[in-house]
Amino acid sequence: MSTDAGVTGSPGLALPVLDDALATRLQARLDRVEEELAGHVVSRAPFVTEAASHLLAAGGKRVRPLLVLLAAECGDNPDSDEVVTAACVVELTHLASLYHDDVMDEALLRRGADSANARWDNHVAILTGDFLFSKSSELTAELGAAAVRIQAETFTALVEGQILETLKPGPDQDPLRHYLDVVAGKTGSLIATSARYGAIFGGASADVQRALTSYGEIVGSAFQLSDDILDVASESDESGKTPGTDLKEGVPTLPVLMARASTDPADARLLELLDADLTDDALLDETLTLLRAHPAMDQARAYVIDQARRAKELLTALPEGSVRDALEAFADVIAVRSA
Ligand code: IPE
Ligand code: IPE
Ligand code: MG
Ligand code: MG
Repeated sequence: MSTDAGVTGSPGLALPVLDDALATRLQARLDRVEEELAGHVVSRAPFVTEAASHLLAAGGKRVRPLLVLLAAECGDNPDSDEVVTAACVVELTHLASLYHDDVMDEALLRRGADSANARWDNHVAILTGDFLFSKSSELTAELGAAAVRIQAETFTALVEGQILETLKPGPDQDPLRHYLDVVAGKTGSLIATSARYGAIFGGASADVQRALTSYGEIVGSAFQLSDDILDVASESDESGKTPGTDLKEGVPTLPVLMARASTDPADARLLELLDADLTDDALLDETLTLLRAHPAMDQARAYVIDQARRAKELLTALPEGSVRDALEAFADVIAVRSA
């Protein structure tokens, strides 16, 4: 995915849109979203503005606002101001979750910049995340009570996912089920809401709203799964994050869970390492090397590609055309992304 800044300072579109007119419309609206976002992170306290602007200005792909804008194209009113507001709401919620997530994961690098916890400290990162969640809620109020309820339910699911990730699966619970439940909560929920908000505020029919919400749930989880694969596969910090962070923090991910299921004696060392404390750099490097060469990586990739196929099937509820093509491309790009 491209994170190139365009001439306007906005990120370029994070997916190839073949239809030129559609690409131009989306880019123009994304530029508006970008301008408005900068205004939404301003506080009466200059330090809070500085801390809250830090990761907004650092970059990011703007996948969630883009999905709002794209889903809005399925309705009669894709140009409404409410669509732009909804796109800001989902990015602010996401941004807030990144401040908190980097505290949980003790991550030092985010969007190619120092994480807020590294740049300042955990207190600043947590409270700035809270500030951004509140700003996102204030803005949602402009969209009416139904949107507030959706945003609150989404936030509940996101936080539940983040908390469940820190707990081991119960004795009767399949670890893969537990993990997929975590992923659906922490990431799938907000991406599903992005598609749903776009459909609602763009004026799509109830059927299309439902189809796009289900599409967003699947694509959203797939997005996290491909992110987890990249945490192992990336050999650089091209993603703007430090690869190997999940392994180091002992956060289970799809390739790890698939490798753990192996009964091949040749995997004994890898399985031993996966249960070890990987805060030691030499052990982490050894684990990454073994895991990258393991068939679990391709098994995980195949799973994600299959999820993209499932998501695309739901798009048959939409009329054929450039918008549906772009939503199909969005699912494909997410499944095979390299950054
Ligand atoms: C990072 O999300 C957190 C995940 C859910 C994987 P993004 O990959 O969308 O992060 P930015 O917004 O581009 O930085
Ligand atoms: C991110 O999960 C989920 C949220 C921010 C809610 P991860 O911890 O897997 O994401 P990265 O890799 O730090 O972006
Ligand atoms: Mg993280
Ligand atoms: Mg995390």
